[in-house]
Amino acid sequence: MPIYISLYGLGVDSRFWDEPEIYNPDRFTESNNIPDAYIPFGIGPRMCVGMKVGQLHAKIVLALLLRDYEIWQTKDNESVLDPRSTFTAAGNGIYLHFKEIKKIIQEEWRDGL
Ligand code: HEM
Repeated sequence: MPIYISLYGLGVDSRFWDEPEIYNPDRFTESNNIPDAYIPFGIGPRMCVGMKVGQLHAKIVLALLLRDYEIWQTKDNESVLDPRSTFTAAGNGIYLHFKEIKKIIQEEWRDGL
């Protein structure tokens, strides 16, 4: 029998997280981690076998983007959840601003390493 668990529901449940509506990356440090409430890759014997590859891929893409761009979202175009989606998905798209970090700054940074 398929079982669907709302990861969004778990993520905003105040029984597990302080201030669940606030974005706080420290929530995901290992010392704060509540394994049964943070399960983006599933749990148990059938959990995702590609977790480390997926995490590494995400880190590489983020590092490459953040190396070259400042990225931000403004209050007037914040994403809202699609209430009809089975998965956690933006209902109105995801609008981000990108500003290229000047090449010269990158060169100075590389030379300094
Ligand atoms: C950010 C990326 C990824 C996310 C969020 C993700 C998430 C998940 C989730 C939630 C499951 C179901 C676990 C369960 O039933 O309890 C799963 C299963 C699985 N994932 Fe991923 N996954 C990701 C990337 C990958 C990658 C890169 C691979 C392969 C290289 C992969 C291969 C698999 C496989 C083979 C299963 C089935 C495992 C089984 O049923 O025994 N996943 N994944």
